[in-house]
Amino acid sequence: MTAPIIVTLTVNGEPVNRAVEPRLTLADFLRDELGLKGTHVGCEHGVCGACTVHLNGATVRGCLTFAVQCEGAEVETVEGGTDSGRLKDLQDEFVARNALQCGYCTPGMLLSAAELLEQNPAPSRDEIREHLSGNYCRCTGYQAIVDAIETTARKRVELER
Ligand code: FES
Ligand code: FES
Repeated sequence: MTAPIIVTLTVNGEPVNRAVEPRLTLADFLRDELGLKGTHVGCEHGVCGACTVHLNGATVRGCLTFAVQCEGAEVETVEGGTDSGRLKDLQDEFVARNALQCGYCTPGMLLSAAELLEQNPAPSRDEIREHLSGNYCRCTGYQAIVDAIETTARKRVELER
């Protein structure tokens, strides 16, 4: 067994300092050490996107990132984005459009969508599909998810006029 390593980071705006096994993934760290179960784990090898979180403002796979790699970093999960209100309009539109059923993919979808709308406030449907191509949904189908993101983008642009 390898000796634990101290990692110091910020998670959803709160300072965190823990001794962790070097091979502990960020997804397991968030879920099992911090109780942030909104970060889901599906494939555990970088394919499905269920474990998507923001690391220093960009999406990463929580299952392919070690917790110790996050030394000094800022991590945001779906809980943080919910509490801050940053995801609220996306979440409201997902509900309005029935863009989720079981919800397993939804945290990752929301965080990927949030990243897209920060980079590109008025994406085309193709651009939305491209950006979400690393997030799998096994039950809703993608049409409603793309609808929800497209509508959120349109409403944000209208609000800024
Ligand atoms: S659990 Fe990380 S990509 Fe599937
Ligand atoms: S809502 Fe079930 S996997 Fe997407």
